Amino acid sequence: MTTPADNTFYVTTPIYYVNDKPHLGHVYTTMVADVVARYHRLRGDDTFFLTGVDEHAAKVSDKAAEYDLSPQEWADQNAAAFRGTFEKLEMTNNDFVRTSSQRHKDKVTEYVSALLKSGDVYEGEYVGWYDAGQEEYVPENKAKDNDYKSEVNGKPLVKKTEKNYFFKLEKYRDDLLAFYAERDLAGKGYVQPEARKNEVVNRIKEANDIPISRTGSGGWGIPVPGDEEQTIYVWIDALFNYLTYVDDDERRHYWASGATHFIAKDILWFHAAIWPALQMALSKCDGYAWVWGEGVQQNQLVYSHSYWVSESGEKMSKSLGNFLDPAAIDNYVEEFGLDALRYFLATRGPLGTTDSAFSPDLFVEVYNSDLANTFGNSCSRVSNMIGKYFDAKTPSRQDAKVQGVTFNAETQIQSILPGSNSAFNACNLAGPANNALILVREVDSYIEKTEPFKLAKDPEKIDDVGAVLGNCIEALRIASVLLWPFIPDKCEAFWSRIGCGHYAEQLKDNGTGDLEAWVKWGQLKPGTPIEKGEALFPRYQVEKKP
Ligand code: MSP
Repeated sequence: MTTPADNTFYVTTPIYYVNDKPHLGHVYTTMVADVVARYHRLRGDDTFFLTGVDEHAAKVSDKAAEYDLSPQEWADQNAAAFRGTFEKLEMTNNDFVRTSSQRHKDKVTEYVSALLKSGDVYEGEYVGWYDAGQEEYVPENKAKDNDYKSEVNGKPLVKKTEKNYFFKLEKYRDDLLAFYAERDLAGKGYVQPEARKNEVVNRIKEANDIPISRTGSGGWGIPVPGDEEQTIYVWIDALFNYLTYVDDDERRHYWASGATHFIAKDILWFHAAIWPALQMALSKCDGYAWVWGEGVQQNQLVYSHSYWVSESGEKMSKSLGNFLDPAAIDNYVEEFGLDALRYFLATRGPLGTTDSAFSPDLFVEVYNSDLANTFGNSCSRVSNMIGKYFDAKTPSRQDAKVQGVTFNAETQIQSILPGSNSAFNACNLAGPANNALILVREVDSYIEKTEPFKLAKDPEKIDDVGAVLGNCIEALRIASVLLWPFIPDKCEAFWSRIGCGHYAEQLKDNGTGDLEAWVKWGQLKPGTPIEKGEALFPRYQVEKKP
């Protein structure tokens, strides 16, 4: 996730199937992308964040039929549920993809027409084992396991040949491998985390052409240009969303910067092989060279995270009935606040190569330790003392050494920013959040050592008290800037209490900030009114766990 020189940043999530309502897994990936998008806006980058829904799947039309609705009606309902959930969770996506939108359908039609013309999409024959009772093809291995009989009614499967359109994936094997190798050489692997790359590379070596159309979709889908009987396979339709929504004069520069695609490991193959191959193929068509430009080749990447699993280790999914649905998510937000959910998901989620169990106990523990007892408590403590001893105004002296104790935060800050930047670039979210908390803990330990509440009893030491509290509030201001991508609402509340409301103003409506300037030491002017306000994160009593 490297920001190109022009400070343009494009981040995407998978587009989710609308056969059902959203659950925690969908919310998670969109939340991760949101934290990253906010971080880039905070840095001042021209950022575009895209999420949305994937509508033309057979399971969407099947589900619609169960409810006696048209596929479009069913898709409309669930698309609204996804959009509503993301809005409620204050996601800052710049647009919301619907693959049934005219814009998307028109663009996909154009791309596939171009590919038909260049010959990388061609008409061929699909030969497979067909289960007539189920009206579906059965993969060779499954057919063999069942002795070439229907799994459902036991009747022999028939070998059926059908007209189909194919994409020449095999032709792109070498180009894909060369692309992977170049990126590795440049130290910016296309697939991350690194550990996921090998399985993909091995599969690319053996990749064959893939069918990209189907018949019998009952008109639900985008027709293959020039052949109304066939619709474009839902995965091809879906992958193109990353391009269709930025393929216009205003947005094309986002594409050129090379997207960061957040996904989970279930859909890595499509993103790691088919997607770049499609881009390579399209770029060879008239007028589409920009699709595989330098910025794309150098910076586009696929970050494939692991799963949220239940405490017993099963993948959280609707079909297993163990997922956190919108109502359960609402409960967490009601009990702990939206920022607490954001913080927990972003810092304790399965971003790396291991799955994370969603544990309510851990949630409460993290909430209390990181948010209530650390950031929230430190903000209250320091603001309260400033209220009590300095008439609620930032004290004027900020000597680093008070009562023989040196305040380390100032030096720490110099290393925090580069550290956070490189962590974000590596799609590591726990690191930057923890860095900010280290700063807060530094404030706490400085207070423990200097004991301003004791010093304040001696009127001669009031300047020392001022120095301590001045340092503390300044360090907390900086910590709050670093924490904003994770807990934006609470940081904004804190800013309004310490005279920094202009940060929020600037960041409002997806505006950009100035991270580097804002984390410079010594910006809170003496005499700035400091409001106490309510606890940002009230401590949670464990016995009332949700
Ligand atoms: N429609 C396709 C994606 C097309 S993208 C061009 C699809 N949709 S999906 O609704 O099944 O969503 C899959 C994605 O949801 C995962 O890749 C991941 O981002 C997210 N998650 C779904 N369940 C999840 C967990 N249990 N844990 C973490 N993420 C999960 O596939």
